[in-house]
Amino acid sequence: MSKRIYLCLAHMSGNEMAYIQEAFDTNWVVPLGPNVNGFESDLEHFVNNVQGATSKELDKKVVALSAGTAAVHLALLACGVGQGDEVIVQSFTFCASSHPVTYLGATPVFVDSEEDTWNMNPQLLEQAIIDRMAVTGKKPKAIVLVYLYGMPAKIDEICAIADKYGIPVIEDAAEGLGSRYDGQVCGTFGMYGVLSFNGNKMITTSGGGALICPDGEAKQKVMFYATQAREAYPYYQHEEIGYNYRMSNICAGIGRGQMTVLDEHIAHHKHVHALYKELLAGVPGITIHDNPSSRYDSNFWLVNILLSPDLCVKGEEHAYVATVTGAVGGAAGVTHAASDPHTDCEPNRNVEAMRLALDAAGVESRPLWKPMHRQPVYRNNPCYVDGTSERLFKMGLCLPAGPYVSDSDVRLIAQTIKDSIQ
Ligand SMILES: Cc1ncc(COP(=O)(O)O)c(C=O)c1O
Repeated sequence: MSKRIYLCLAHMSGNEMAYIQEAFDTNWVVPLGPNVNGFESDLEHFVNNVQGATSKELDKKVVALSAGTAAVHLALLACGVGQGDEVIVQSFTFCASSHPVTYLGATPVFVDSEEDTWNMNPQLLEQAIIDRMAVTGKKPKAIVLVYLYGMPAKIDEICAIADKYGIPVIEDAAEGLGSRYDGQVCGTFGMYGVLSFNGNKMITTSGGGALICPDGEAKQKVMFYATQAREAYPYYQHEEIGYNYRMSNICAGIGRGQMTVLDEHIAHHKHVHALYKELLAGVPGITIHDNPSSRYDSNFWLVNILLSPDLCVKGEEHAYVATVTGAVGGAAGVTHAASDPHTDCEPNRNVEAMRLALDAAGVESRPLWKPMHRQPVYRNNPCYVDGTSERLFKMGLCLPAGPYVSDSDVRLIAQTIKDSIQ
């Protein structure tokens, strides 16, 4: 086997070291400085650029932070979420969309997805808002909308409902950097927008994130909470609880270098998606997730396929025989050993068999996010679901799409998929 093909690996532009060297040369080795300011300004330029025949002008401000998770946390805080509140969160997502709600002593209320984008279902959202108001006597404090694998949501419908009830939308665009809806960058529609620069994202700062804020005042407030909520005195005066969430000037140097290849990365992910689409067209039992219409312009952070439950994959009788050692996604070497290879909600056997077949061919693939309302840690949380995300989770597999994935890799992956079908 020549090389392993990963889902999405960090890919350097070659411009990063100059920014990092400058930080060392000028001794800006701290969580503030010229790279942090420069990276924020590059991001502001990118997110405020609306494409297409529109006169819309944006003036969003961006704060660079230590992680996308920190950005979710601070967005919730900025929306006034606190102890005893409820926040509506898309159930079909990575845990970082919902966990920060619990950091604040609030409760995530999960809402299911619709079939087209796999993101929040507007009808279920409205049902959830009406029902929570009836049950608790108060409105949910915020709505966390996610752009799963980069796919824009039904943003118009979601924002119209949010406006109707006066609830702020936090867009979790951690996976959606560069995705657009009607030509506008995802993360700029709601009150706040979350970005992630984790090692596996569209661009990386090794670890890092950012919060897109509505204006300069909101940016100041978020920076205040990101730097331990220090009051303006010559000594340390704290009147509120803050966090140490600012991005390091070294990481921001990586970010400035990465911004020079962001457009290239987006184009590559789209190219890889188009090639998979071509190679897997007409394969019975396999469907590839695509933009539902021309309004949607996904960055295709990862490419996803669905396996029909009646598709027979070679070796599926051996799926789930062995327990997996090591957490999915690496988790920095942390292992929390499972005692049983099964849970009460897992991908179908044919999906696990396909994952194993790809693994044997040197290809990393991964089940879709397991919906939060099916996670044991959230077993008692309110949820408004119709089975869509659970069904997609059981049928889906994420395929490699990062900058290192070549056309010949895609051909190998598509062929392995075809050869694995019985
Ligand atoms: C949907 C979603 N939200 C939030 C995050 C959190 O970002 P980070 O890993 O930078 O904390 C991630 C990715 O890791 C994500 O996929």
